[in-house]
Amino acid sequence: MKIDIITLFPQMLDSFFNSSIIKRAIDKNLVSVNFINPREFATDKHNTTDDRPFGGGPGMIMKPEPLFLAVESIRTDKSLTILLSPSGLPFKQKDAEKIVSSNEHLIMICGHYEGVDERVIDSIVDIEFSIGDYVLTNGALASAVISDAIIRLIPGVLGAGEKGIKDESFSTGKLDYPQYTKPVKFRNMDVPEILLCGNHELINEWRRKKSIEKTIKNRPDLMSDDKKND
Ligand SMILES: C[S@@+](CC[C@H](N)C(=O)[O-])C[C@H]1O[C@@H](n2cnc3c(N)ncnc32)[C@H](O)[C@@H]1O
Repeated sequence: MKIDIITLFPQMLDSFFNSSIIKRAIDKNLVSVNFINPREFATDKHNTTDDRPFGGGPGMIMKPEPLFLAVESIRTDKSLTILLSPSGLPFKQKDAEKIVSSNEHLIMICGHYEGVDERVIDSIVDIEFSIGDYVLTNGALASAVISDAIIRLIPGVLGAGEKGIKDESFSTGKLDYPQYTKPVKFRNMDVPEILLCGNHELINEWRRKKSIEKTIKNRPDLMSDDKKND
């Protein structure tokens, strides 16, 4: 997979893409990530990428010309162009799964200031995604969040950890069950005895129950009525 991120702040993403599992995925050529600065596509001598909103109001809006030219310089028939935006569709695990299985090339446009000229959304954006109900200063962190959720699902990226993907929060429709590691006793808190019994049927049943309890407590919106009665 190839990911092109159009951002005024590529330096915000350097350490993220140069760390841990994401760096290894890039080093193993399982994904390639490029940054494109819309300033390079500005059409005036000051490399302007923003201007005041028509109709008045505070702040600045990203101009259409540099964003159109940046996207047109990389887009192919196989590209999916995403705009990061607080007013986009909520980005979900199922979106990450769908993108990994159907898209070879992602273009992510990061907004800044008050956002982007609406003609960008109308003409060159396939889908707008929000990473949550809050407003960030620009789209760079949102592009990193979405890249991470996608890249870890690319076959080969997690190695042995891949087996666990299907049991993770959201993939099952519920939240993950509680996990413990050594020591068995820590500051008077014990690991639940059932996890030490060696009976995998009983352990799986306990995990299923705990997963439902946690989902009802923290994310009741994820639970359909039939899952609550499980
Ligand atoms: C300050 S925000 C613009 C907020 C916009 N005026 C509004 O009220 O919806 C600047 C940019 O940050 C990015 N951004 C901010 N919050 C985001 C979120 N929750 N999800 C995705 N992108 C976000 C978008 O690219 C956005 O264009």
